[in-house]
Amino acid sequence: MKLWIAGLGLMALMGTAAPVLAQTNLGAVVTERREGFKAAGDNMTAVAAVARAGGDPRGTVERITAIQAWFATAGTRFPAGTQQGAAGLDTRALPAIWTDRAGFDAAMTAMGPRLVALREAAASGNVANFQAAVQATGAACGDCHRPYRAR
Ligand code: HEC
Repeated sequence: MKLWIAGLGLMALMGTAAPVLAQTNLGAVVTERREGFKAAGDNMTAVAAVARAGGDPRGTVERITAIQAWFATAGTRFPAGTQQGAAGLDTRALPAIWTDRAGFDAAMTAMGPRLVALREAAASGNVANFQAAVQATGAACGDCHRPYRAR
């Protein structure tokens, strides 16, 4: 009997704790997501600065590799319930990500080959090819931000 009551108490506790825990996890997902994009953005800004200055692109390979590493998992960081407007979350991820997941996934997949081309152009040391690849990569960022990220 005592055990049964203790069990009930535990169940009641879990009943209230579970949603709180879920919310905390989504908050952590959003924080990590934003930090990851921010780091990719900082790297991309530095890479683009070298392109604008017509500098030696070979020094940017490491940054591009870091951007690639981020985009390898970025698509997995958008679980249901993490859209802009969700209670307690500070995010610019638009609901369109979840209503048009195929379009969002396609925009994410498109980043892969752009970054491979960018890294190859940077490693080759060819300034003109590098500048063109930076343009193409930046365009692919915008192709996702326009429909799927709030201003
Ligand atoms: C497939 C979609 C997609 C692609 C591709 C994409 N982004 Fe984003 N990006 C997003 C979304 C969605 C957010 C909003 C995330 C949030 O607020 O939770 C974001 C946020 C950001 C942020 C703001 C981070 C912050 O401080 O909150 C930066 C900077 C950024 N992206 C840079 C880039 C760059 C640079 C590229 C290209 C190399 C890129 N993104 C490609 C979807 C994308």
